[in-house]
Amino acid sequence: MQSETRKQLLKLFTEAGETFLSGQKISEQLGCSRTAIWKHIEDLRKEGFEVEAVRKLGYRLKKMPDKLNANELQLGLKTKRFGWSVYDQESVPSTQQLAHQLAHEGAEEGTVVIAEEQTAGRGRLNRSWHSPKGTGIWMSIILRPSIPLQQAPQLTLLVAVAVAQTIQEITNIVPDIKWPNDILINGKKVAGILTELQADPDQVRAVIVGIGMNVNQKQFPNDIAPIATSLAIETGRTFHRPKIVQTLLQKLEQLYEQYLQHGFLPIKLLWEGYSVTIGQQIVARTLNGAIRGVALGITDSGTLKVQTEDGAVHYIYSADIEI
Ligand code: BTN
Repeated sequence: MQSETRKQLLKLFTEAGETFLSGQKISEQLGCSRTAIWKHIEDLRKEGFEVEAVRKLGYRLKKMPDKLNANELQLGLKTKRFGWSVYDQESVPSTQQLAHQLAHEGAEEGTVVIAEEQTAGRGRLNRSWHSPKGTGIWMSIILRPSIPLQQAPQLTLLVAVAVAQTIQEITNIVPDIKWPNDILINGKKVAGILTELQADPDQVRAVIVGIGMNVNQKQFPNDIAPIATSLAIETGRTFHRPKIVQTLLQKLEQLYEQYLQHGFLPIKLLWEGYSVTIGQQIVARTLNGAIRGVALGITDSGTLKVQTEDGAVHYIYSADIEI
């Protein structure tokens, strides 16, 4: 837990941006002595905050630590509900697992579970998800939409749009989405989404959305190196992960509100704008075998429509797509 003064000090610093704040001004605003302020600044420095001090001008915040904890995530967060309940962990087997448990216990919508490292990160189709320490974003968020079960796949596509928009805003690169929710840059996977449900027979109780984003990795293990990439590899820059999570939570909340008010159509249009699947000759590898054909589009419930050579149209709920 951080003290109220420390919280207010960080708020003042972030609101001031590049502007220096004098010790006098800070102590007036926070109602404590200049010595107390100085001690708080020293504590911040020990935690990895870079606070610049210039005689006669005062202090300004130059850099925040790249730590995915509640303090960092909530400082300057502009959402109404998403991300205001955060379970931050150094290392977990999987954030999905913990989020499922919390959802069962009644955790509120918008609750986030985030970890610096996952030791048993899970991907779609029972694959594992490489989640090394301190380099990527491994998080799960709990949603509680009042929708019938068959509409749940729409949320997967909604999250893919939020991830794509976030990457676009942060890097200026327009990523591709491969149905249903692989996020690619230059044909390699930079982020993946795993949507899991807790449901009654016909109604969704909770949707646990797991998002994995490769951010600052400079390399990948040999087995995934040919198919995986990170924002750092694609741009040659390193990124402040809390800022990315904040952007993601904001995009996610906006799209989710739009979805609850206006339905899936606006989301579908945005998804199609990023899609590399539609109109392509593809192979869809499902649990029941492979389907080769042209991806015609997605239906209003988010399933993929594929036309095979014989003219038959297939509706695909879950598959791995090869383009
Ligand atoms: C995929 O593309 O196969 C989905 C990958 C999802 C990975 C994320 S990382 C956070 C959350 N916890 C997990 O164990 N998996 C998801």
